[in-house]
Amino acid sequence: MPLPFTDEAVHYVAGRIRQVQDFLEQRIAMENISYYAAPGQHMQEIAFIRAVLEEADCDLLLDVNNIYVNSINHRYDAEEFLVALPAGRVRYFHIAGHYVEAEDIRIDTHGAAVCDPVFELLDNAYSHFGPVPTLLERDFNIPPLEELLTEVDRIVKLQSTHSNTERLKIV
Ligand SMILES: [Fe+2]
Repeated sequence: MPLPFTDEAVHYVAGRIRQVQDFLEQRIAMENISYYAAPGQHMQEIAFIRAVLEEADCDLLLDVNNIYVNSINHRYDAEEFLVALPAGRVRYFHIAGHYVEAEDIRIDTHGAAVCDPVFELLDNAYSHFGPVPTLLERDFNIPPLEELLTEVDRIVKLQSTHSNTERLKIV
């Protein structure tokens, strides 16, 4: 279920994250999710994520496919969203395939191969954040292993292209 993008939700979520971090005595990374409705929205998704990360003082698990899916479903620029994230908090990437319900509706399924525009966004994410460790998500419609390894190879090649990219400082 979608969280309302409100100040009240920022305080609630950040408090819960701080509680977990206090218990574990270490920071955790929270993931940007895909969502299909934003009831009671008082701020943009990017502002909500930035506020939670700041108030909770936690890290970010950046799902590149979720940015792409959300950018189409909620009509925003994926590149602008990407570069507006606080680089110093990005610890890990997810990448996955999704379902094309219609040209303007994408469903985050993890049930298809990663499409070219998502790989291009991943390339830009490495360029901006450095060669961050990356998980290829695939939950069903599992293809032969060679096909998955082809996708993994593509990820590794992109990472090596950016292996000299310096991680940006906290912004
Ligand atoms: Fe994910």
